[in-house]
Amino acid sequence: MDKIRLDFNNMMTDFVGEHGICEGDIRKLEGKIDAAKKAMKDKRETGKMDWRDLPYNQDEVVEEILQYVNEVKDDIEAFVVLGIGGSALGPIAVQQAINHPYYNELSRDKRKGFPKLYVADNVDPEKLVYLFDTVDVTKCLFNCISKSGSTSETMSQFMIIKEMLEERLPKEEAAKHIVCTTDKVNGNLIRMAKEEGYKTFYIPSGVGGRFSELTPVGLLPAAMCGIDIKELLKGAAYMDEICKEGDIYKNPAYMFAVLSYIGMGQGKNISVMMPYADSLKYISDWYAQLWAESLGKKYDNNGKEVYVGQTPVKALGVTDQHSQVQLYTEGPFDKIIVILGVDEFKETITIPKIYGDIPSLGFLGGVTQNQLIKTEQTATEYALLKSGKTNMTITLPKVNEFTIGQLLYMLEVATGFAGELMEINAFDQPGVEEGKNATYAMFGRPGYEEKKKELDERPAKKDKYIIR
Ligand code: PA5
Repeated sequence: MDKIRLDFNNMMTDFVGEHGICEGDIRKLEGKIDAAKKAMKDKRETGKMDWRDLPYNQDEVVEEILQYVNEVKDDIEAFVVLGIGGSALGPIAVQQAINHPYYNELSRDKRKGFPKLYVADNVDPEKLVYLFDTVDVTKCLFNCISKSGSTSETMSQFMIIKEMLEERLPKEEAAKHIVCTTDKVNGNLIRMAKEEGYKTFYIPSGVGGRFSELTPVGLLPAAMCGIDIKELLKGAAYMDEICKEGDIYKNPAYMFAVLSYIGMGQGKNISVMMPYADSLKYISDWYAQLWAESLGKKYDNNGKEVYVGQTPVKALGVTDQHSQVQLYTEGPFDKIIVILGVDEFKETITIPKIYGDIPSLGFLGGVTQNQLIKTEQTATEYALLKSGKTNMTITLPKVNEFTIGQLLYMLEVATGFAGELMEINAFDQPGVEEGKNATYAMFGRPGYEEKKKELDERPAKKDKYIIR
């Protein structure tokens, strides 16, 4: 069984010295940890953490997804996700983790007959126009993913694409090129899907965007690219069992949260995620949203202003050894560096035994790149340790659906648990709303007149502060 592991030796004072965490710090939190465990259990039992049931309650939808994929995949060249935030980062992360890094460039045969995948997760006009240079929209299936069905970015893309399809194809035919993933009852998208006859998959109402990767949000794009979604869910279920463990020394998600929480108390307000594998690069993007949007909060559960959170930073080993690691080793003691490692890569490549007469190159001869990346990972862990910088490592024995399911689920539980320790609501995002509302107001959306007034009254910019 490929089980992921958390090694937190280098978080501890025994290893990193005075800036680390000692077992006494953990013991002192016993009461808080027990309260957080209870809150997690209560929330799960009272349906306030529906994402925890996703590994178990989707047999039917999984079959529906697989059947749908089978029906449509041969008729399309590309599957294009339209979504943002929690409706895009998971699909990108899983695709990059499991599939070939140049998946879209492979021949159809090498893609095992599955279509290409594109994710349009921004409203940058160039990106969208250039996508249309790349694909023939009449040969694409567009997956509009929006829980609320009202997110301007996603819906604007949807509107552009709907019109394009209907200009090129009879309306009924155009409708077959759109599949919606949304709430079953609420929002514009479900209404439109019903009116226009779009195929629809549902996001369970109790599952928030950034916790939705294991719903059809992530399962449909993954299955459409040949990823084994049953194994993904099996991995999550396996981790769920591990996360039921009450002893935090046996529960990687709880320990991750506890160490992060203590670290925040020590002023370590930055959480760096640094995978030593290109396949895991976009897991950092997904984690950045999960950790930031869940834990960055102004108020605690009692309405007291607390201004908490840890800023996630994305790094990549070994690439960022040549950029950010200088700061991580010699800069301030304000970070926890989470390294993601892999025991066994899918491929091996050996460096040829040439230039044996040049000592600075000769030592590489006969070494595999697998050994090189692992050794550089160990070397970075050592450099961080030597400079007293807290770091922990999550290792995946291999990168596959089963281990990725475990990793995603573990980080979700860690986020929920950290929220409980911090006594904040990890499942809302009021800070995101202000920017959304200001956008609506500036466009004159009905209902946002007051906000428009507020915006019009904001202080005018001073020319002296603008260098032209
Ligand atoms: O985590 C969240 O709630 C957000 O990041 C949402 O996923 C994001 O704003 C997209 O929302 P929606 O799926 O409603 O379009």
